[in-house]
Amino acid sequence: MTLRTIESLGPLAGKRVVVRCDLNVPLKDGSITDDGRVRASVPTLEALTGQGARVIVVSHLGRPDGAPDPKYSLAPVAARLGELLDAPVAFASDTVGPDAASKVEHLADREVLVLENLRFNAGETAKDDEARAAFAGELAAFADAVVSDGFGVVHRKQASVFDLEQLRPSAAGLLIAAELEVLDRLTENPERPYTVVLGGSKVSDKLGVIAHLLPRVDALLIGGGMLFTFLAAQGHKVGSSLLEEDQIETVRGYLAEARERGVEIVLPTDVVVAERFAADAEHVVAPADAIEDTAFGASGLGLDIGPDTAAAFAEKIRGSKTVFWNGPMGVFELAPFAAGTREVAQALTEVDGLSVVGGGDSAAAVRQLGFADDAFGHISTGGGASLEFLEGKKLPGLEVLGWQ
Ligand code: 3PG
Repeated sequence: MTLRTIESLGPLAGKRVVVRCDLNVPLKDGSITDDGRVRASVPTLEALTGQGARVIVVSHLGRPDGAPDPKYSLAPVAARLGELLDAPVAFASDTVGPDAASKVEHLADREVLVLENLRFNAGETAKDDEARAAFAGELAAFADAVVSDGFGVVHRKQASVFDLEQLRPSAAGLLIAAELEVLDRLTENPERPYTVVLGGSKVSDKLGVIAHLLPRVDALLIGGGMLFTFLAAQGHKVGSSLLEEDQIETVRGYLAEARERGVEIVLPTDVVVAERFAADAEHVVAPADAIEDTAFGASGLGLDIGPDTAAAFAEKIRGSKTVFWNGPMGVFELAPFAAGTREVAQALTEVDGLSVVGGGDSAAAVRQLGFADDAFGHISTGGGASLEFLEGKKLPGLEVLGWQ
């Protein structure tokens, strides 16, 4: 790896360092429901304040439309960061406006300031190179150096991720370095058997990663909403479960390719079928090839993998030396449909080798189900970013840091 590190920036005492974090955390009624990304940003911030730098944290939160929207304010995140750093953290109510400028000017050595959501400014996500560069220039005015540490957003060609890093001396933070060290082990000679578990709702989000992984893995386990498109590709009826009809042919192609290559695509043999999408809905376990034969007929909804499938997946996972998992197996937010996700998570904690949980949803799922972070080899802070990394794509936010 050729990533530029913080040391390459030289002594940082008294310098203003803009740190691009990914503090895009789930919020409910203004409270953070999973602070994993905030915690993950702490080591770099402490390393910088420890050196006497003046630290200016920037991040996006959600997808506001290029203008201020109180729903997406970073204020609660700044408060949480203060608790985790056990130090006062200042907050500017704009990103590059008068409040930010004044607070940056008065920032002392070792202090931390969080600026308001980057995406309140249209320039951050602009497709137009000049508009993006102009906004990056405004951010650069606050910086003697830039540290990029928002691994979850390195797949986005956005002003603070891609343009800013080219305007000032820049380097990767400790989180990006740690993420790449682990994810690189998945792409460069993973210890075998290498199993990938994919879930989540849409197969169309995972097409690239499936195509790239097929020649590289020993087994691919398919759960989550996307399993129904696989079952349909095998000719089974799926009731009213999630189905992407336009992907059925592509999925058939993957099944054929897997057969040719001797890669095992393991599909569910049973699923939990519910009468409707609700925690108190009636539900039964049905064979994967007879989803419409329950009392709910064609209106039955598959909401989780069944117990036989979960046991088979768990056995496969436990027998592997390297496992990557992205995407819940079912609607884990509703208790009756969380068992498949829980059993897969449990099996990952028992892997005698490297187990990696990738993605915002999967990370939130394991924490919500009560698993400790250190029960796994690694929990990535990147959802889309970790998938695109595994797809072998060149990621703009890593390329600007010297990664090849
Ligand atoms: C994520 O949650 O995957 C990252 O924070 C990126 O967010 P985005 O998909 O809105 O760019």
